[in-house]
Amino acid sequence: MTETLKKALSDQVQKEFESALLYKAMAANSGALGYSGAVNWFNLQAEEELLHGKKIFDYIIERGMKPELSDISMEKTEWKDMQEMLQDTLEHEKKVTKSIGNILKIAREEMDFGTEIFLQWFITEQVEEEASVQGLLDKLALLGSKDTGLYMFDSELGSRVAAATE
Ligand code: FEO
Repeated sequence: MTETLKKALSDQVQKEFESALLYKAMAANSGALGYSGAVNWFNLQAEEELLHGKKIFDYIIERGMKPELSDISMEKTEWKDMQEMLQDTLEHEKKVTKSIGNILKIAREEMDFGTEIFLQWFITEQVEEEASVQGLLDKLALLGSKDTGLYMFDSELGSRVAAATE
């Protein structure tokens, strides 16, 4: 694996860990707003991101190289409501999708087929993540204008369970 590809994969590890911190901040924010279901949803989202980061981290080592990590800084730690958190989640996931696509492009240019196959799981995962968050935003738009609807929506977020990541 080339240094360029290793650097791109290391940056992605960093982004996955940053995502975990972002979703932990949203879980904390959900608690402060009284959304106990959303606390569960964002906590699980954060755990998934840590696993994504670990997958790539382990892959770099498997290829005989050293992942490079650096500081994480938080751009935002407060959101006014559920809609703003989910909208930011969708925007964030779109950026991650783009970033994975860029690494795939490098892997193809370098004809690193092992990395290309490795990244396919992430490509599929990003399609699912964007669709699931868009689905929640659509449902929130339908239900969330009344207090009872928001209560039902939050209860649904509370029923999320950890997904298999293999
Ligand atoms: Fe690991 Fe949500 O992207």
